[in-house]
Amino acid sequence: VNAFVGQCVADIDTPALVIDLDAMQRNLAAMATFASQRGLRLRPHAKMHKSAWIAQQQIAHGAVGVCVQKTSEAEALAAQGVRDLFISNEVIDEAKLARVAALAHQVTLAIAVDSTLGVERLAAALQAAGSRLGVFVEIDIGHGRCGVPPRDAAALARSVARHGLHFAGLQAYHGRAQHLRGVAERRAAIGASAQAVRTALAALAVAGIDCPLVSGAGSGSFVLEADSGLWGELQCGSYLFMDRDYADNEALPGAPRFEHALFVKSQVMSCAASHAVIDAGHKSHAIDSGLPRVWGRDDLEFANGGDEHGILRGAALPAIPALGETVWLVPGHCDPTVNLHATMLGVRGGLERGVVERVIAVDARGCIT
Ligand SMILES: Cc1ncc(COP(=O)(O)O)c(C=O)c1O
Repeated sequence: VNAFVGQCVADIDTPALVIDLDAMQRNLAAMATFASQRGLRLRPHAKMHKSAWIAQQQIAHGAVGVCVQKTSEAEALAAQGVRDLFISNEVIDEAKLARVAALAHQVTLAIAVDSTLGVERLAAALQAAGSRLGVFVEIDIGHGRCGVPPRDAAALARSVARHGLHFAGLQAYHGRAQHLRGVAERRAAIGASAQAVRTALAALAVAGIDCPLVSGAGSGSFVLEADSGLWGELQCGSYLFMDRDYADNEALPGAPRFEHALFVKSQVMSCAASHAVIDAGHKSHAIDSGLPRVWGRDDLEFANGGDEHGILRGAALPAIPALGETVWLVPGHCDPTVNLHATMLGVRGGLERGVVERVIAVDARGCIT
């Protein structure tokens, strides 16, 4: 990207990933306020933005640290100065666990486990490295992905302690619930998740094991986890950028209002009688959660034009933008969109007349191991 600090937004080459820093900062503050008013720890998920600078902004606004999903993501953010990381995911490979154990010498680190083999291998790696970290037992609270059944949490926590490791609490995240559109559906899903957490806590209590923390929740449901009184730490990630998919959710009562802060700037490069073609296809924005929305132009519909193209159709022909015109897209899903780009351009003063204030590296881009 040949953008530079001080450049006018109008001059940013396209396609480019642009952050509206004013909107991002309002989102940052809104979530920080929510967490502090509820007396909850905030540990945002950095798999979304993959940027050490943004992680530091979140920590400066009261986050205790950030979550990551992969070992290499943790390494990339640690290399850029992030000092408190939770790998909210299982690592089973021994070579990777050796890297985790080495990283635990440099930063305050935690990790999730959901098997006795995982505990054994983690303990062996930590012993070999002579390092320590916090271990969260992940329970499946309805997603049907990782995690032990809630009633088995005590057995695994006991195994953690037996291996001389520090049991830090429960990892309890329901990803699919985040995207249930209606409030009633989300409330029902997280209600069942809360019941699963109660089952795990009861099993721990019977076993005489103290549970220091329950960590989890995402941008679609965190008000419900907070209301339950069970979770002590929120892991929301997408609230900071707010993609189209999240904006399509019915808002939960009591939730702060988050704004779109992540955009793809694109340009009309071809016009036909029935449509316009822009220079942003699915190499510039992920389409796994659906197509982007055209920002500020509800009269225009985006159709997938392939890797490098987007097709815009309007209800009325004069609505179609002209050759060379700028078109802003709100990506369907922020996490994989960010991963497509080496940098994000942080803009201050709005998308119309703002200037580039910061070129933000996607430090953990491609860190999928
Ligand atoms: C374990 C975990 N925690 C938190 C999050 C953040 O969720 P969201 O981006 O929906 O806020 C995710 C996202 O997938 C996740 O996998």
